[in-house]
Amino acid sequence: MPSHELDDPPSRSLLVRAIVLAAGKGTRMKSSLPKVLHPLRGLPIMEHALRAVIRATGQKPIVIVGHDAAAVQAAVGNRADFALQAEQLGTGHAVMMAESAMRDDPSAQVIITAADMPLVRPETLQVLVNEREHHGAAISLLSVVVNDPRGFGRVVRDAVGNVMAIVEQIACTPEQLKITELNGAIYCIDAAWLWGALRRIQPNSRKGEYFLTDLVEIAVADGRTVRAIVASDVDECIGINTRVDLADADVALRRRINRAHMLNGVSIVDPATTYIDLDVTISEDTTILPNTHLLGSTSIGAKAVIGPDTTLRNATIGNGCAIRQSVIEDAQVDDDADVGPFSHLRSGAHIGAGAHVGNFGEVKNSTLGVHSKMGHFSYLGDATVGENVNIGAGAITCNYDGVRKNPTVIGDGAFIGSDTLLVAPVEIGAGATTGAGAVVTKNVPPDTVAVGLPARVIRRKGKSLT
Ligand code: UD1
Ligand code: CA
Repeated sequence: MPSHELDDPPSRSLLVRAIVLAAGKGTRMKSSLPKVLHPLRGLPIMEHALRAVIRATGQKPIVIVGHDAAAVQAAVGNRADFALQAEQLGTGHAVMMAESAMRDDPSAQVIITAADMPLVRPETLQVLVNEREHHGAAISLLSVVVNDPRGFGRVVRDAVGNVMAIVEQIACTPEQLKITELNGAIYCIDAAWLWGALRRIQPNSRKGEYFLTDLVEIAVADGRTVRAIVASDVDECIGINTRVDLADADVALRRRINRAHMLNGVSIVDPATTYIDLDVTISEDTTILPNTHLLGSTSIGAKAVIGPDTTLRNATIGNGCAIRQSVIEDAQVDDDADVGPFSHLRSGAHIGAGAHVGNFGEVKNSTLGVHSKMGHFSYLGDATVGENVNIGAGAITCNYDGVRKNPTVIGDGAFIGSDTLLVAPVEIGAGATTGAGAVVTKNVPPDTVAVGLPARVIRRKGKSLT
């Protein structure tokens, strides 16, 4: 088995390998970042196409890199083989660069797609493969019928509907400009024919570029069939050339992602203001309220209510949680806890089951134990808080002494009075109480009461100290 094969390739008659074109500069983005690395629903633009071709072929694709090759290669890692197109002389020239990598490849056919087409689905690639095989065609390609030509190439058919050519917009006659069937730039091509045919492409007279689309006329001249399948979902042919296209792609992808979650049993009250990244997971009977962003690798359990006005990034939320008007980043909230309104959980925050973080609470790199409560204007940094602890309004861990971050430990059942300042490193014993406004600079033993500035222990609970 060749090394690029994955364990479980989809069953089909002929082996297929994919080439992903990603060498272009993306000039029209007007950006220092390569176009294909701009983020789209939590992933670089090109990651979407990459996943689709890997899913459809079961094999490592060949990615054509050129402009900013190192950055593009780093983003892909070892999930693809690479071919370098040192000078970007057009899409036809880009495919030529894959020939040596493909020389000993047993694949009988090649899928070619562009890294800037993120919405193509693996199922559609499979349809193209089947269509090409069924007709013994040299090329099958995806087309799209829309009234907005977007600068795409036009699919030219003869009187009985056979595909005769693709003509790029700059080369169109006034009659051809009116054609509404556009080239989606996703192809399946007979490998035995492809490499020789590429050498017959003539450079375009105006820009000296080799257009991959010229293969259609070359196939027709060879007496071979070319099949164009009109996409049933026009979104699949969204190509990103400008930031306007990027926003269009985001809307379309968002619609697709939201729909999938709803069909999986998640209620989304206002899909138009719900922004869910591709890799987010949500369990059944969870409700997402308006203006909510679920980003990165966030996962949410069942029967939770998230939002409104909430951002979760790489958050792990348990079953039955309620999170409203809050921001949670790289943090975990266990079952039945509730957060918000207006709370901020930062990196390393861990809210225990049934616990509560309320108005203007901030938690960083800290654990708030099971059923503990922190309702109003509090900050926990580098703290370990036990179970059933009450953190009074305005209580704060002073974790930073200007040089280092110091830990605070609060035992089970402790009661931290309003406006207590816990000057770390410091430990409050289980069952201890601090008075309102206490400034705690020394450890407070379990089951004692400490008050004042600096706080002193005034009695053991249940008896007087004197
Ligand atoms: C291309 C098609 C057009 C189609 C449109 C759909 C050609 C000539 N035209 O035009 O028919 O309607 O896509 O989106 O193919 N690339 C390289 N090396 C190069 C040039 C481009 O790798 O030398 C890559 C780019 O990075 C990009 C892809 O090929 O990912 C497409 O190139 P682009 O310049 O965006 O082609 P379009 O003008 O969109
Ligand atoms: Ca493009």
